[in-house]
Amino acid sequence: MRLNVDLGENSYEILIKKGCLNQASSELNLNRKILVISDSGIPAQYIETIAEQCENYLVEIIPQGENNKNIEQFTNLCHVLIRNNFTRTDAIIGLGGGVVGDLAGFVAASYMRGIDFYNIPTTLLSQIDSSVGGKTAINMQQVKNIVGAFYQPKKVLIDPDVLTTLPERQKASGIAEAIKMAATSNSDFFDFLMYQDAWQNIEKVIAESLKIKISVVEQDEREAGLRQVLNFGHTIGHAIEANCSDNYYHGECIALGMLYFSGGQVKQTLIKVLQKYCLPIEVALDPELIFRSILHDKKADGNQITIVSVPEIGSYELNKISISDLKTLLVNR
Ligand SMILES: NC(=O)c1ccc[n+]([C@@H]2O[C@H](COP(=O)([O-])OP(=O)(O)OC[C@H]3O[C@@H](n4cnc5c(N)ncnc54)[C@H](O)[C@@H]3O)[C@@H](O)[C@H]2O)c1
Repeated sequence: MRLNVDLGENSYEILIKKGCLNQASSELNLNRKILVISDSGIPAQYIETIAEQCENYLVEIIPQGENNKNIEQFTNLCHVLIRNNFTRTDAIIGLGGGVVGDLAGFVAASYMRGIDFYNIPTTLLSQIDSSVGGKTAINMQQVKNIVGAFYQPKKVLIDPDVLTTLPERQKASGIAEAIKMAATSNSDFFDFLMYQDAWQNIEKVIAESLKIKISVVEQDEREAGLRQVLNFGHTIGHAIEANCSDNYYHGECIALGMLYFSGGQVKQTLIKVLQKYCLPIEVALDPELIFRSILHDKKADGNQITIVSVPEIGSYELNKISISDLKTLLVNR
């Protein structure tokens, strides 16, 4: 299946196809110098499959894990590009999960003010969400994604076959982002996730999630308003991730974050679907710590913060609340 992201001169195509890793040379322009960026947890066979289709390439492997989406890795990758005389007509491939995609995309956005970037996501979370939409970033001073750029890839290749090597817990972490999109935007898809077997229908899960994301990004590429809907669960989720990234994966933090500002029947329904996919529903974290992290988070806008909530499955509301009300809400929860 091919999907298009229509963003004027920044438009691009997404290919979702089993085995498409082997077709990289016919899908991407690899007749130039290519830097393949991956991480130490990505099975070597995927890196080799991509590398052997490039004529002139370098491979850089960063250590795996959220803590490596940092300025040191960013600097190191820029040094590699400089040392090897990469020019603006060359390209970078990010081959990995959201960590690799966010970091490699930001390097591509920054080097010579932007060189071509191809994203080949290898986790479910990155196939469902992070590889599309052009948000690139690194973490700094324990603040998630605080330095980054909007920079769209030239193409995204999604090969569901690579998920066969992904650990179960990482797969569940990815489903959390699909639940997030369904909960805010598509109740039929939510029911599908609730009552059908997502693992047997993984291409549908990827495509349905991406359709929601594409529609939002096309209307609001730079998050002036509508795109904030994609942050459902993220205000609290990022705060949890900033404090406990050793204990929880990104999607698990989002799962916990979605429950924070939900109530009544919606909360019960979310708990049911999260439990179905073995996602956490409770975290013991000092509200003061959460509050301080939110203050650092770029989603706090002056004295206010926008909270995304789901009044009914398949719909959402954006509400601005003051920082002091947020504190009261967290402490009295
Ligand atoms: N840019 C965006 O729009 C956006 C959206 C959502 C999340 N994110 C970011 O994405 C990151 C989380 O991404 P993630 O969940 O993909 O985590 P990740 O990139 O850390 O990958 C998880 C782990 O899986 C391993 N792995 C990757 N592919 C594999 C495969 N096919 N087989 C076996 N192991 C494999 C990796 O080595 C890593 O250890 C966070 O930093 C988050 O902020 C960005």
